[in-house]
Amino acid sequence: MAIWLFLVALNLSGRLVLGAPQIPCYFIFGDSLADDGNNNNLLTLAKSNYPPYGIDFSDGATGRFTNGRTIVDIIAQLLGFDKYIPPFATARGNDTLQGVNYASGAAGIRDESGQQQGDIISLNRQLGNHLITVSRVREILGGNESAYLNKCIYTVGMGSNDYLNNYFMPNIYPTSSMYTPEQYADVLIKQYKQQLKTLYGYGARKVAVIGLGLLGCTPAEISRFGTNGSACVDKINNAAVLFNNQLQPLVNEFNSNFSDAKFTYINTFAISTTGPGTAGLISNATCCKVDKELGTCIPYETPCSNRTIYVFYDGFHPTETVNLGFAARAYNALLPSDASPYDIRNLAMI
Ligand SMILES: *[C@@H]1O[C@H](CO)[C@@H](O)[C@H](O)[C@H]1NC(C)=O
Ligand SMILES: *[C@@H]1O[C@H](CO)[C@@H](O)[C@H](O)[C@H]1NC(C)=O
Ligand SMILES: *[C@@H]1O[C@H](CO)[C@@H](O)[C@H](O)[C@H]1NC(C)=O
Ligand SMILES: *[C@@H]1O[C@H](CO)[C@@H](O)[C@H](O)[C@H]1NC(C)=O
Ligand SMILES: *[C@@H]1O[C@H](CO)[C@@H](O)[C@H](O)[C@H]1NC(C)=O
Ligand SMILES: *[C@@H]1O[C@H](CO)[C@@H](O)[C@H](O)[C@H]1NC(C)=O
Repeated sequence: MAIWLFLVALNLSGRLVLGAPQIPCYFIFGDSLADDGNNNNLLTLAKSNYPPYGIDFSDGATGRFTNGRTIVDIIAQLLGFDKYIPPFATARGNDTLQGVNYASGAAGIRDESGQQQGDIISLNRQLGNHLITVSRVREILGGNESAYLNKCIYTVGMGSNDYLNNYFMPNIYPTSSMYTPEQYADVLIKQYKQQLKTLYGYGARKVAVIGLGLLGCTPAEISRFGTNGSACVDKINNAAVLFNNQLQPLVNEFNSNFSDAKFTYINTFAISTTGPGTAGLISNATCCKVDKELGTCIPYETPCSNRTIYVFYDGFHPTETVNLGFAARAYNALLPSDASPYDIRNLAMI
């Protein structure tokens, strides 16, 4: 595992100096797994722009919820970009042409998800921000923006907070008394379908939709619910599987309905549970000292000294080491189950 990750890292630093990206632009929709600073100036508890976040990142604590690069930072590098995709909160002028990151910690498919942490940018608001970007691109290019935006890669990773910061917070949110897990997956997928259609309507033609991970195996959820002797909180993982089981067919539906678009499904469960995975890494403890209420790092506490041997940096978020392994397989599938029908490398080449 360790050796394999080091090879990936070498590859990446090679790519960094290799000139032009494979595609002109990369747009990112998501939650804390992808946020690179959009929450910094919001009135919210969902923040990470303080040490020890960013301890292994060139610019320090930027609002990334990990020690180093996020998955989407690494995907941007693999696509050949020489800069990280800037957050919508600060992207201005021609920066916008290479893409924008709209992701917001604690955000969900549903507007209310994560709201107990304060102001966050739900997927609906992220799409509204993208519409602003579309008009900025039109202005810069002097019209003809759709021919440009058609060539970009879009990644969308949403849904975790609709479970962790909604359905599985029954004291704050009523959804678990309104819906069974099956019904909840249905309503989420219906709403997600409309949102992905909106994104298509704004010119997206190469879209990677990232499935939910093993949410019930995060240290924060294990400490909140206990596991009844299992390795993880099974009811949370089971609910996430119901969602994923509808998401993959939805991606296929987009491909059959819209012949001018390529959608693909990144199978987070498969990547986490097959192949090298995270074998040999510590998964039952977090690298930083965690605030029990929030699951994020306690500000200014010294984290573990060797970040490369941990799966989790805080109560929810993987370390850069794990992000490297995940991004490598989303970009260039190791097993056919990692991504279907395309990995991101193929999505870029089509
Ligand atoms: C921004 O990009 C446009 C189109 O490529 C170009 O004409 C313009 O000179 C650029 N502006 C700056 C400030 O780089
Ligand atoms: C619009 O973009 C297409 C594809 O890049 C190009 O062939 C065409 O000339 C452009 N039209 C204008 C008016 O710039
Ligand atoms: C543990 O088991 C009990 C009884 O089967 C169940 O009600 C509870 O939801 C389980 N807890 C978790 C975290 O799965
Ligand atoms: C695909 O087309 C079918 C038949 O018209 C329709 O019922 C379905 O909602 C469409 N799906 C998407 C994702 O557009
Ligand atoms: C984590 O797992 C290891 C190996 O199974 C064990 O030795 C250790 O005590 C566990 N640590 C905690 C904090 O549970
Ligand atoms: C961290 O742990 C890895 C794996 O055991 C080891 O190869 C590496 O030398 C360690 N790094 C530091 C700085 O201790």
